[in-house]
Amino acid sequence: MASPFEILGLDPDADEPAVRRAYRERVFEAHPDHGGSAAEFRRVRAAYERLLSGESVESEPAMADAPADEPTATEPEKVRVEYLNYAVLDDHGWGLDDPDLFETAAAADLADADHGEFLVHPRESLLEAAENRGYAWPYACRGGACANCAVAIVAGELEMPNDTVLPPEMKAHGIRLSCNGIPVSDELKVLYNIKHLPALEELRLPPRPFEQAHASD
Ligand code: FES
Repeated sequence: MASPFEILGLDPDADEPAVRRAYRERVFEAHPDHGGSAAEFRRVRAAYERLLSGESVESEPAMADAPADEPTATEPEKVRVEYLNYAVLDDHGWGLDDPDLFETAAAADLADADHGEFLVHPRESLLEAAENRGYAWPYACRGGACANCAVAIVAGELEMPNDTVLPPEMKAHGIRLSCNGIPVSDELKVLYNIKHLPALEELRLPPRPFEQAHASD
């Protein structure tokens, strides 16, 4: 059985920054969208979590076939999300700090792709919910290792089981990752597609389908 270090391609004495860097690379390659598989994706994620948890890393437990997410004892309800596309703010002269931003957007008769509502079902991440309801939101690794899927939380809260990339000051300003972010409030208001925020530029991975489809934006 491979050790978590071997799974991430690391030496046994690798420090935490090296573990985080290796995870960012491996989880991207391991995702089914990028030539990997669901089992490999889970294996890489489990290895990373074991290394960060500090538990014994002698060998890999029988983790490859483990379910990605165990059901929780208290099943959450569906959560209503109101979303707004960050890309339309400039067009309308709106600002992120506008206290009435969502009310203003609601009155502006925007396209459904740019503003509206959907429900997040139990055990869906915010990104999965958007995709399952027919929306194309940006992403790259889907494993908490880039900022392509980042959203700005205007109301409510999104908890991220996997985040190796967002610095504390961004999280303090409500930036979250939608690919693994699970709503933990009754409602959410989010700005999605915030990839153009200058602070996120260096945390992004190469463009994935959303960016490619909107290359002319
Ligand atoms: S898509 Fe990379 S962290 Fe969400």
